[in-house]
Amino acid sequence: MNNKEIIAEGQEYVMNTYGRLPIALVEGKGSYVWDADGKRYLDFVAGIAVNALGHCHPAVVEAISEQAHKLIHCSNLYWIEPQVKLAKMLVEHSCFDKAFFCNSGAEANEAAFKLARKYAKAQGYTNRYEVISTANSFHGRTLATLNATGQEKVHHNFEPLLDGFKSVPYNDLAAIEDAISDKTCAIIVEPIQGEGGVIVAHAGYLAGLRHLCDEHDLLLIFDEVQVGCGRTGKLFAYQNSGVKPDVMTLAKALAGGVAIGAMLVNQRADVFVPGEHASTFGGNPLATAAAVAAINQMLVEDIPEGVTLKSEYFICKLQQLVDKYDSLLSVRGQGLLLGLVANKPAGAVVEACQGKGLLINCTAGSVLRFVPPLTVSNDEIDEAVAILDQALQECGF
Ligand SMILES: Cc1ncc(COP(=O)(O)O)c(C=O)c1O
Repeated sequence: MNNKEIIAEGQEYVMNTYGRLPIALVEGKGSYVWDADGKRYLDFVAGIAVNALGHCHPAVVEAISEQAHKLIHCSNLYWIEPQVKLAKMLVEHSCFDKAFFCNSGAEANEAAFKLARKYAKAQGYTNRYEVISTANSFHGRTLATLNATGQEKVHHNFEPLLDGFKSVPYNDLAAIEDAISDKTCAIIVEPIQGEGGVIVAHAGYLAGLRHLCDEHDLLLIFDEVQVGCGRTGKLFAYQNSGVKPDVMTLAKALAGGVAIGAMLVNQRADVFVPGEHASTFGGNPLATAAAVAAINQMLVEDIPEGVTLKSEYFICKLQQLVDKYDSLLSVRGQGLLLGLVANKPAGAVVEACQGKGLLINCTAGSVLRFVPPLTVSNDEIDEAVAILDQALQECGF
């Protein structure tokens, strides 16, 4: 089928929940993808921070193929070898002690919210159930995670909002302090807000949250669904600040492109007992074998270290565009999660880039977001910036 045929049938049979560009991607290798008409694109969306090792990395492909021949699925009624290996690997390379696996970022955050309520009960706080999140955050689209998400557009049409979630301005410690009450059980925060427009936590903010959580006996949850797994130049984003949360949620890049979610907890937060939380597919052999291969590859090649160098190069190139175009205000972000902030809606630039063979996207209306594979080369960065330059010119920036 070509693009047109896939889109026509998609419009007829697939529910209308996404604003999609008019192409169907059918193949990928490294930093490139091809659509159903054979057109090639440089992919600086990478499944929105999923394809960290590039498309179809041989180590991940091999792990999936091998596991598919052995055992694709079995229940968590039994022990699962690759799941155990993945948990060990994540624990050994982080400040956490145990892992729970699920299938997506939203599910990982759901698990964290349940865990926070259970933690409070286990500590004897019978009335603590409220989670404080931040304005412009994004934590998912399930009913609980959309309530934790601090964006009205995500709530729209799904009111009334659930009791138990409160959101306050990001990077504002006093606002969190004011919001803490005798009902609070946890604070959830992204070390960098991705969907909210690529906003990095100020120095001292995360440390301040840690302090408040210790003072009030709350769980500190870092949502690293988008920023974890090497994207910020460390394996996990919390390692940049040195602030250790009690709980960290992961998904996206963890399994090199296969659906997975994870919640890591420290000893203090390891409070679930059998029967309290579960997932049929969570930690299944196929996904966890892919994740073991993906994380192993990241460690063997020291991909996070390369991210820091590439980030400096990319920021420098993007800054040249800011200097050139009046409608661009700044570059922000960390590692290979970068945003080009415009003073007007930037959706047209995304479409112009697509026409020229570059995939990027736009968050918060006017922030062009770049989340390329972490394996991207400087030549590919040059290629992307050249296309972006032409697109900005064409769109009157
Ligand atoms: C920070 C963050 N948390 C949670 C989610 C939700 O993840 P998923 O779409 O896998 O449910 C996302 C998705 O973009 C995210 O960026």
